[in-house]
This record gives sequence, structure tokens and C-alpha cells, in this order.
Amino acid sequence: MEEFRVDTHTHLLVDKTEHEPDWCEIQKTLDLAASSGLSAICVTEHIEAVGYGKLIEQLFVKNHLKGIDVGGGYRLSNGITIFPGAEIQLVNGSNIGVHAPVEVLLRLDRRAGWYSLESLREDLDNFGERYALVAHHIFWPNKTYPDHDLLAGLVHAIEKPAKDFRNGGAYQQLASKYVLPTTGGSDAHNFIQVGASYTKITTDAGQLNHSSFIDSLLNKECQAVDSVLIDRLIVMAKVYRQQQLSQLRK
Ligand code: FE2
Repeated sequence: MEEFRVDTHTHLLVDKTEHEPDWCEIQKTLDLAASSGLSAICVTEHIEAVGYGKLIEQLFVKNHLKGIDVGGGYRLSNGITIFPGAEIQLVNGSNIGVHAPVEVLLRLDRRAGWYSLESLREDLDNFGERYALVAHHIFWPNKTYPDHDLLAGLVHAIEKPAKDFRNGGAYQQLASKYVLPTTGGSDAHNFIQVGASYTKITTDAGQLNHSSFIDSLLNKECQAVDSVLIDRLIVMAKVYRQQQLSQLRK
């Protein structure tokens, strides 16, 4: 069995209003991810972000960063692999991470609040490709899902989010109650936060590609891990993000 570290929840756009990817900032995030010992990151950009289509197409259709095709993702020159994803805000306000082939992601409806969990699964099932769903930061204020029985029956994993690390026990308890695995996601919007939490993947597939990654979630061969620097990274990333947002809005 081989182990891989994957940050399963990252953003490469600074904000949902950003039209054009900032490739300089993106490179910083990818380089920090590589030097932090991660094998891969999932680009779970907000699907309603105005720049979602452009970012995902550039990365995963046009191979803008000139990576090596590893099957559903690209391994970049610094050693990090990128996988496509999306973060979807459901009609009830909770957020779901979607891990699916890029062709599927680009066919999903991009309106915030368009999907319920049931209708999202229905659309994904109709596309006929394998996918995995993760409940993102489900105890975060205004992101909760009131019916845990229903939620647990429709997702494949519960995220332990970096930014709510002090409440990590609640996420673990929820996962344990429903015999679901946990994933670790930084929810990074900049280079500082990437890898603050990550998912340890254990697979005998030999190689990490998008298919074996999705399998590891479906087969419960994954577990959330917090970086030892998590508290510092969250604080520093918040300060940096405020600067980024004020620059973006000038
Ligand atoms: Fe997020």
C-alpha cells in the first residue's frame, strides 16, 4: 500500500468575482503545495465563481501549465499533481465538494443554490461517470445541513476543515457515527493556507491518478490530517487574504 497526501479542498481564484486567473499567485500556491510535501491538490473552485469555467478549462482542458497527463489530472514540473473539482453551494446553503472528471464538472449548472443534494446526485448519476461527494465544513455557521441522516446517505466523506480545526472533534464524531471517512481540506484561497489540512490516501493502485483518488474516497481509504502548523497558517492566511481582497477591489 502506498500513501499520498492530497489537499482535497483548494481554490486558485482569489475571490468569486475574479474573472481572470492570476497565474503568478497560482504558481506560488502550487510551489508551496509541492514544498509542503503534498502529492496533489484538488482544485475545488466555487462553481458559481465568474472565473470557474475559464480556470478549469485552462488547467484541465488546455493544460495551460504544461503538466504530464496522469489520467484525469496533470503532474506539474514541481512534482505536484492537480485534479479538477468544484465546490457547490446547495439550495440550503451548505457546501459540497465534487470530485469528478472535468467533462462532468463543466456540464454542471453553475448557479449558486441551484442544486439540492438529491438533484446534484441525480445529475451526476445521469452523466454516468464515477464521482465522489464530500460534505465541506458542515458545522461552519450558515453552511450546516440540518438532516444528518440524509446528508450521510448522499455523501461519501466528511471534511475536517482547516479553518475550523478547533472543532475537529465534531466533524470526526459525525463521520464515525455514519461510518464515513474524513478528508482534510485547507480551503486555501492563497499560498499560505495550502496544506494546512490534507487527506492521507492509502491505495494499492500504485499510482495516484484521478480515478484512484476517487476510488480511495469511495472505498474509505482516506483520513484527514492537520498540519502541525495549522493554527499559524490559518492566522497568516487570513491576514494575507485581506490584503489580496483589498487589492482586487481597488
Ligand atoms: Fe471552499
